[in-house]
Amino acid sequence: MGMPGVGKGTQATRLAERLAVVHLSTGDILREAVKAETDLGLKAKDTMAAGELVSDELIGDMIAERLSRPDIESGFILDGFPRTVIQVGILDGVLERLGIGLDRVVLLGASEQEIVRRLSGRRVCESCGAVYHVDNRPSAKGEACEECDGALVQRPDDTEEVIRERLRVYREQTLPIADAYRQRGLLVEVEGSGAPDEVFERLQAELVAA
Ligand code: AP5
Repeated sequence: MGMPGVGKGTQATRLAERLAVVHLSTGDILREAVKAETDLGLKAKDTMAAGELVSDELIGDMIAERLSRPDIESGFILDGFPRTVIQVGILDGVLERLGIGLDRVVLLGASEQEIVRRLSGRRVCESCGAVYHVDNRPSAKGEACEECDGALVQRPDDTEEVIRERLRVYREQTLPIADAYRQRGLLVEVEGSGAPDEVFERLQAELVAA
């Protein structure tokens, strides 16, 4: 969990590699669906571009389908889900049916000033989705992706106006669920400022200590 642009995707990718488990980002799944123009993508496109949340019903169906696949058996990291009180209930139900529990919920934090700086400088590969930053993580190939030579573009929801709306939606709908997980004794709070390597070291130390 954490504000838009706090580094959830950056850290979840690293942690999933380190633990050899699957990284499931609801944002990435939705962006793939938008690109492929599936029913889900067509329904989600305008909502995402405006910085609002896609309906709990669509997300619930999507996550239930994804968690029914065998590759989650060694474990998984959820990134960007759950994000509303209703989605917490949906996740509880899916996990109960699967007979598994959550180990930890990580809340990454950073200042809003840092968030705006990170999001306005973010560039993503339109082919493979790799994430860069114009200052902090530039591509060695300039405007092209280091992995696949795809073009680097700005996400449609990374404009200043939409970033402000995403932050508002986060404070209103997502932040309150941190308390629910705190009360369950699952919440691990990690400071997300500093370089990605530094944050990753901190994250691993906090997870070991928790
Ligand atoms: P989603 O894709 O989940 O977006 P988000 O929560 O706004 O988060 P971001 O992907 O923008 O940021 P991040 O925290 O992953 O940061 P990143 O690592 O990229 O969701 C998008 C939309 O989909 C939502 O608005 C909604 O419409 C819909 N959606 C998704 N899930 C949903 C759900 N469950 N329910 C309903 N709707 C849903 O880093 C950001 C930038 O900073 C990068 O450029 C990176 O290189 C850089 N950076 C990262 N870490 C550091 C660091 N330590 N120092 C400097 N730079 C850094």
